[in-house]
Amino acid sequence: MSDRFILAIESSCDETSVAVLKNEAELLSNIIASQVESHKRFGGVVPEVASRHHVEVITTCIDDALVEAGITAKDLSAVAVTYGPGLVGALLVGLSAAKAFAWAHGLPLVPVNHMAGHLMAAREQGQLTYPLLALLVSGGHTELVYVTAPGDYHIVGETRDDAVGEAYDKVGRVMGLTYPAGREIDQLAHQGKDVYDFPRAMLHDDSLEFSFSGLKSAFINLHHNAAQKEETLLVEDLCASFQAAVLDILLAKTKKALEKYPVETLVVAGGVAANQGLRERLAQEITDVNVVIPPLRLCGDNAGMIALAAAVELDLDRHADMSLNAKPSLTFPTL
Ligand code: KG4
Ligand code: ZN
Repeated sequence: MSDRFILAIESSCDETSVAVLKNEAELLSNIIASQVESHKRFGGVVPEVASRHHVEVITTCIDDALVEAGITAKDLSAVAVTYGPGLVGALLVGLSAAKAFAWAHGLPLVPVNHMAGHLMAAREQGQLTYPLLALLVSGGHTELVYVTAPGDYHIVGETRDDAVGEAYDKVGRVMGLTYPAGREIDQLAHQGKDVYDFPRAMLHDDSLEFSFSGLKSAFINLHHNAAQKEETLLVEDLCASFQAAVLDILLAKTKKALEKYPVETLVVAGGVAANQGLRERLAQEITDVNVVIPPLRLCGDNAGMIALAAAVELDLDRHADMSLNAKPSLTFPTL
């Protein structure tokens, strides 16, 4: 049988990315053009700025991904694209490029849910066993997903308010750290102590829901009160205390989900899965299931993960036609 090559495009937020996947899980290229430098001075992603940057670089990214993979458009079997969730203007740039490319080369178009992409990045580590459970933690989402079979995703728990990455970025901003602050907070947390006893919402209830807005407010209040009294707080201890609260919540809810949905594999993915503290706690506390975390280069937004999810969709013969539209609030069904 001849090889199958998928070109995948991701543009849901502030990374323009194009990847080429060979067969089931061999990533030949994964070009990522990050716009983070443009958004830093605003302390977050500015949607209009994001869309403009995507338009500027998307065609070059497609060319580079093909060149790096050592193939041409003629070798491709399909074009995959993130169609949601994300910023509508940003999504539309990738979607339009994918449609134009698919139409021009007579290729099938494969729509991919961005969160399925984060989850399926784990396929790069080896074949997954189903059913599996996933903890997805990113800048926009925090959810527990039960995957009954390849391509069959169900939400079993999610955040009622802020996503974990969002909480990291907000407290980072209060401390004067640069956006996105997750990585720096993680590093500082390793040099401090959990002394502030921040709230851990819904830790002992039976639900699989998360809430991080109370923790964020408690952090902001402590910081502001100290500033008013001209007291200085140790930034390392603030980070350690914040991260300890976050990780207690993530670990408790994941353990609860594993009790409710016994599986052999737990996938932990999304931008926050890069967190070293989270990786350490998972290794210490979740020992009875196989924990699969994508490599660091596939944790943040990238098209490689979209290609890995698209391979599953293509195996299931799931395509879209040219009427495919962006779905900014796309979610998985609840179980
Ligand atoms: O998945 P992602 O790249 O984009 C979204 O789909 O949202 O996630 C970005 C988020 C940001 O909020 C960033 O601060 C966070 O992931 N992040 C981290 C770490 N690295 C990135 N959060 C905690 N610890 C990290 N090491
Ligand atoms: Zn993402």
